[in-house]
Amino acid sequence: MNAIEELLKKQGYSDKGISLYINKEYFGEMKDPSINYSYTGPCGDTIEIFIKLLGNKIIDAKFLTIGCMGAFIAGSALTSLIKGKSLEEAEMISENKIKEYIGKMPPEKIDCICLARRTLNKAIKKYKCETSKDGI
Ligand code: FES
Repeated sequence: MNAIEELLKKQGYSDKGISLYINKEYFGEMKDPSINYSYTGPCGDTIEIFIKLLGNKIIDAKFLTIGCMGAFIAGSALTSLIKGKSLEEAEMISENKIKEYIGKMPPEKIDCICLARRTLNKAIKKYKCETSKDGI
């Protein structure tokens, strides 16, 4: 374990959370996403989400963030969890489910999970609105 990982562990992050932060597997832009949405939460941090659909199925997801470590970890966990799901299944992913996937987070970083989930739900809502026949 290197110095950064040890520091993160001391701060209260799980091994899974540390791995999500270090590897940044789902971090980055996506060319020609089916859905692209960015949301700034009350803390001032922003998450941008990119989703590629095949029909109604999420075949790829990525994110960017201008935010804290919790935003990186929550964004990574969320994008990992929604891959392979339908839009409706993705909408049903709760903050608790994301929390379970990550394991331990410092209590003051739990709101970062909320920012990630809110970004996803707003993205899907906007997409559905734009693609519905009557645009409502
Ligand atoms: Fe704003 Fe973490 S996302 S404090």
